[in-house]
Amino acid sequence: MKIIDGKALATKMRVELKEKIEKSAIKPGLAVVIVGEDPASRIYVRNKIKACGEIGIQSFCYELPATSSQKEVEDLLDSLAVNPSVHGILLQLPLPKGFDSESAMSHIPVEKDVDGFSAENLGLLTLHKERVVACTPLGIMKMLESEGVDLCGKRAVVLGRSDTVGKPMAMLLLNANATVTICHSKTTDLKEICKTADILVSAIGKAKFVTADMVKEGAVVIDVGMNRDETGKLCGDVDFDAVKDKASLITPVPGGVGPMTITMLMYNTCITAFKE
Ligand code: GUN
Repeated sequence: MKIIDGKALATKMRVELKEKIEKSAIKPGLAVVIVGEDPASRIYVRNKIKACGEIGIQSFCYELPATSSQKEVEDLLDSLAVNPSVHGILLQLPLPKGFDSESAMSHIPVEKDVDGFSAENLGLLTLHKERVVACTPLGIMKMLESEGVDLCGKRAVVLGRSDTVGKPMAMLLLNANATVTICHSKTTDLKEICKTADILVSAIGKAKFVTADMVKEGAVVIDVGMNRDETGKLCGDVDFDAVKDKASLITPVPGGVGPMTITMLMYNTCITAFKE
């Protein structure tokens, strides 16, 4: 078993991005908009802003109260859409109850969609013409690549069908010629399906859901979960201590997928800033 060090790869890629930004005449700018007080979202946003500063991306942070109106959020996004210093706009999800996320996100122009959540960027991914790809799935692909995992012809199982992680993840694996199954809350025989996986990606948000009996000997296990266990400790979707001895490669939580997600946000901001 080998633990995939997401933090180390993220650091290496951030150094490369920093060098690229230093050589460029354009200073990339990222606007991050957060609505409401959700403590986890606030921490994510703080980490994103900090990472921007470290590599030379100018950040613009907007913290709106949960009492803001839909129109106030959308007016802010409209102003960022026409601001030439802003090359990427990230609207932190989920929005507080009562907000229409789809309507709000439609105010982010595709040229500034650094999350890859727009219909156009998702469509391009589906057509295997990737432009800006959702940060978490993209970060996972970079981790698999850096470990030399060959996906061609392999069985991949994705747990979770969210528009932000599960669906784009499945599409990337499919584009890499894996045979992909997506499991979700209505899946029957979920355990049996997981056991067939050469690559198992869990993005369901349930603490220690993936147990050793669900994992094939030698599988690559990727954990997207960010949960709290009974004692309040941060943990993933995978029962790491039990699964690690069966997996050939496994990502830890924290220090696995999380740091790569943020790095891919920087990576995507460079794509939109430099119009690559
Ligand atoms: N909330 C949790 N992860 C993400 C992400 O990658 N992008 C956005 N916009 N919101 C999130």
